[in-house]
Amino acid sequence: MLKDKNILLGVTGGIAAYKSASIVSLLKKQGANVKVVMTKAACEFVTPLTFQTMSNNEVHIEMFDQLMNMDVEHVSLAKWADVILVAPCTANTIGKIANGICDNLLTTVLMASRSKVILAPAMNTYMLNNTNNQENIKKLKNQGVVVLDTQRDLLACNDIGEGKMLEPEELVKIVDFELTEKDLIGKRVVVTSGPTIEEIDPVRYLTNHSSGKMGYAIAGEAKKRGAFVTLISGPTSIEPPFVDEFIRIKSTQDMYNAVEESFDNCDVLIKAAAPADYSPKYYSDEKIKKTGESNLNCLELKQNIDIAKHFGSLKKDQIIVGFAAESSDEIKYGKSKLKSKNLDLIVVNNIKQKGAGFKSDTNIVSIIDKDENVESLGTMSKKDLANEILNKIGKLLKAR
Ligand SMILES: Cc1cc2nc3c(=O)[nH]c(=O)nc-3n(C[C@H](O)[C@H](O)[C@H](O)COP(=O)(O)O)c2cc1C
Repeated sequence: MLKDKNILLGVTGGIAAYKSASIVSLLKKQGANVKVVMTKAACEFVTPLTFQTMSNNEVHIEMFDQLMNMDVEHVSLAKWADVILVAPCTANTIGKIANGICDNLLTTVLMASRSKVILAPAMNTYMLNNTNNQENIKKLKNQGVVVLDTQRDLLACNDIGEGKMLEPEELVKIVDFELTEKDLIGKRVVVTSGPTIEEIDPVRYLTNHSSGKMGYAIAGEAKKRGAFVTLISGPTSIEPPFVDEFIRIKSTQDMYNAVEESFDNCDVLIKAAAPADYSPKYYSDEKIKKTGESNLNCLELKQNIDIAKHFGSLKKDQIIVGFAAESSDEIKYGKSKLKSKNLDLIVVNNIKQKGAGFKSDTNIVSIIDKDENVESLGTMSKKDLANEILNKIGKLLKAR
């Protein structure tokens, strides 16, 4: 969602300014256009050349440089920005913005701006807690400015306390969140993700290669778009996104139980998980010993419940989206699963294709709807694909 967005980064004179270069780098990696405005005090900590090189754009510092250009710089920068992030934001700059002072380029741009403003304070704990500073923060929050919390840590002044700026990765996530249209507000979305494991004995289990990346991307993006998100996840090694409810499960039966808990109240069920189709018929309480035979002849399996099919047969006005990873004829199998499981959409991919499938950060899929319309999408990040799927769900919700 940051792709092609115009982000103006204000850098003020705090020691955390050295981290602002990473913010530029992270934003650029996600496809955003970044321009930087520095205060003169910020230039004491980091050189403008760093930001110019990282952003591939001229760095703006002086109010009256505009005499060289034909446009009024503070107004054109304010109009250009989709969002303004000031990180770090000093107590001084907070005080100026709260009191309508615009005596440098950054504060003047902020005064002229009509876009969302996010301030990431960074300062010594006593400065942070100073009554004037707290009053200023309160005033700005009341005006709709997003003033972020700080972290408690060992600060540059050697005190331990509140006042450390949030980390660049966190700030970029917040910018992304603030820029995302909240079109799923009021909707309850349940996402299943990852593999399941089916235990054979206390040591061994059956599983598959699912990483959970696709389901996590969908859950994270749905949350950003305002939905109340329940993420039901099998065992994965990746970090869960920020959601409302996170339920960790092991087996297909556990996943079924968790879906059953939330199904009646949900608007959308997205089955991005790869639950095991079979589980061992008998679980051995003791570790199964090596027999000395060269072949282990039989591991008896029983079929697990097909979760998507089960809830497809029960659904009232919920929208159910299924996934099918196939190694051939994915459209044919996809159409047949869509029908037999009573789904609203199915996302199919061919796991043999390079850039598609389980552990990859990208996917190549086709999305099939109830009228058997097939939309084939090229290689895209799982995050972009998550938004494509949510766009289609959004249309179905509107049409309901
Ligand atoms: C070494 C050093 C570190 C500083 N760190 C901070 C800081 O983290 N937060 C802050 O609010 N002010 C800090 N200051 C004070 C600001 O630089 C000072 O208030 C300055 O006027 C801020 O100007 P600006 O808001 O225009 O950038 C620091 C000053 C020095 C000398």
